[in-house]
Amino acid sequence: MRLLENLPGAWPWILTVLVLLTAAGFLFLDDPEPQKHVRMAAEAEFRTLEEEFRKQKRSCFVLGASGETGKVLLKELLQRNIFNKITVIGRRRLPLQDDEENAGRVVQEVVDFEALDSHSSVFQGHDVGFCCLGTTRAKAGAEMFVRVDHDYVLKSAELARAGGCSQFHLESSRGANKNSSFLYLKVKGQVEADIEALGFDRFIIYRPGALLVNRQESRPMEYVARQVLRALSPVLPSMSIPIQAVAAAMVSNVLLTSEQKTEILENKAIAAYGKRKDK
Ligand SMILES: NC(=O)c1ccc[n+]([C@@H]2O[C@H](COP(=O)([O-])OP(=O)(O)OC[C@H]3O[C@@H](n4cnc5c(N)ncnc54)[C@H](OP(=O)(O)O)[C@@H]3O)[C@@H](O)[C@H]2O)c1
Ligand SMILES: *[C@@H]1O[C@H](CO)[C@@H](O)[C@H](O)[C@H]1NC(C)=O
Repeated sequence: MRLLENLPGAWPWILTVLVLLTAAGFLFLDDPEPQKHVRMAAEAEFRTLEEEFRKQKRSCFVLGASGETGKVLLKELLQRNIFNKITVIGRRRLPLQDDEENAGRVVQEVVDFEALDSHSSVFQGHDVGFCCLGTTRAKAGAEMFVRVDHDYVLKSAELARAGGCSQFHLESSRGANKNSSFLYLKVKGQVEADIEALGFDRFIIYRPGALLVNRQESRPMEYVARQVLRALSPVLPSMSIPIQAVAAAMVSNVLLTSEQKTEILENKAIAAYGKRKDK
């Protein structure tokens, strides 16, 4: 009885303990050590690498350029201007600024993802592929989620590989693991493994935590969660990431060479690219 009477006064303590326990849980779930080491370069070195790369007149394609990460990635690619040609592949045309298309830097290709084989020519002749494609179970249902995040992504990678692409950059997710009992993490881990088996010269996997972005779609709960993550990010550096850092990491890694064919960048490794000061 005494306890019940005192309960209202106890709430702040109960909440504090819950928050601390949750934080401890997240710290426990800290990033695994990257299995494959990834190199970082100094600022001046990046400039030289960019210049040299530019001279090679390489081309790339972007999947998911209409999405939150893809949009920022495309902007980053245009800004750093390391590719001679950028092909945006999607299910609909993007409203790009005229000068971007007129300058011939961005080419748009609309494809039917349910019949990718009939678009194989679209995937031919690129040096580098970037993939920020994805949906969620909540948005599309479990079956469609697997089709998009696994089947569409893998098929695109296969066609690109067959078409001569040597480097593939995949935006996956923190915790991706083909053995996971969570559908989301399992599918992400499975597509990573299946693409690795395609044998790209370089396959770079990015595993960001929650993406910090002000999404246009209205998802109130997600908005609240993001604000909490943003506030917590100094103490929980492996949980969330500004979307700009993901885009910067994806472009910077094109320039870096590695002994390993497959590299995995966990959230913290990606965050390091967001700290470059040249923006
Ligand atoms: N959001 C997060 O916090 C988070 C965290 C870790 C990892 N990730 C992963 O990072 C990736 C990018 O996330 P994001 O939040 O930037 O994505 P997003 O804003 O939801 O964009 C998804 C992209 O995929 C395309 N897409 C979705 N369903 C499709 C379909 N049925 N057919 C063809 N295209 C389709 C969209 O094209 P349309 O514009 O035509 O719909 C869009 O370009 C995803 O793989 C996601 O799982 C996200
Ligand atoms: C998945 O399970 C297999 C078989 O138990 C194991 O060999 C493999 O290392 C696991 N993979 C991951 C990513 O945990």
